[in-house]
Amino acid sequence: CRVVVLISGNGSNLQAIIDGCDDNLKANIVGVISNKPDAYGLIRAHQSEIDTSCVIPYTNEIRSDYDARLLKAIEKYQPDLIVLAGFMRILTDDFVSHFIGKMINVHPSLLPKYPGLHTHQRAIDAGDTKHGASVHFVIPELDAGPVILQAKVPIYSEDDAEILAERVHEQEHAIYPLVVKWFSLDRLAMIDGKAYLDGELI
Ligand code: GRF
Repeated sequence: CRVVVLISGNGSNLQAIIDGCDDNLKANIVGVISNKPDAYGLIRAHQSEIDTSCVIPYTNEIRSDYDARLLKAIEKYQPDLIVLAGFMRILTDDFVSHFIGKMINVHPSLLPKYPGLHTHQRAIDAGDTKHGASVHFVIPELDAGPVILQAKVPIYSEDDAEILAERVHEQEHAIYPLVVKWFSLDRLAMIDGKAYLDGELI
């Protein structure tokens, strides 16, 4: 399974997937693409001898033009799976439709709770006692695709957003490589907007 990972920043999820691929020869990261040239994840990719490219937005570039360039950069790698790992751009419907059923994302909340940004603070402000991370198939609507796997963490009364984010991050690193592995073993599918594992509705 040829995997392309899209990043914008630190790339700790990329690292977890790189490490997970070591003992999972079915998944092969063939490229890492960033919209930011200084993303630390690019260094992680180099250290593991993975090919990288940057698709940097031009000033005032419209979203559809950017996504067309991104699509070209991705297609060079002929991937079977696109993994969004902290890729901080909203993608156009056309772009998402092109990769439907082949693109996954990790989101730092127990979806459908808290799509979008600042999820940790929002969970604390709501007085939630549980929070977590979700891996889901990507559909045009933001953070709304069918969930494949979630991990829960407790929220303690003394938590701030930073501590909570760290706790959630750890869980992301556990579940994201597992989902990539499932996909590479052909165990996952999205059919009619629903996620299936081994043919069973998730
Ligand atoms: C993660 O919290 C992920 O849930 C969100 O972006 C962050 C990426 O972190 N989508 P990293 O770059 O993988 O360290």
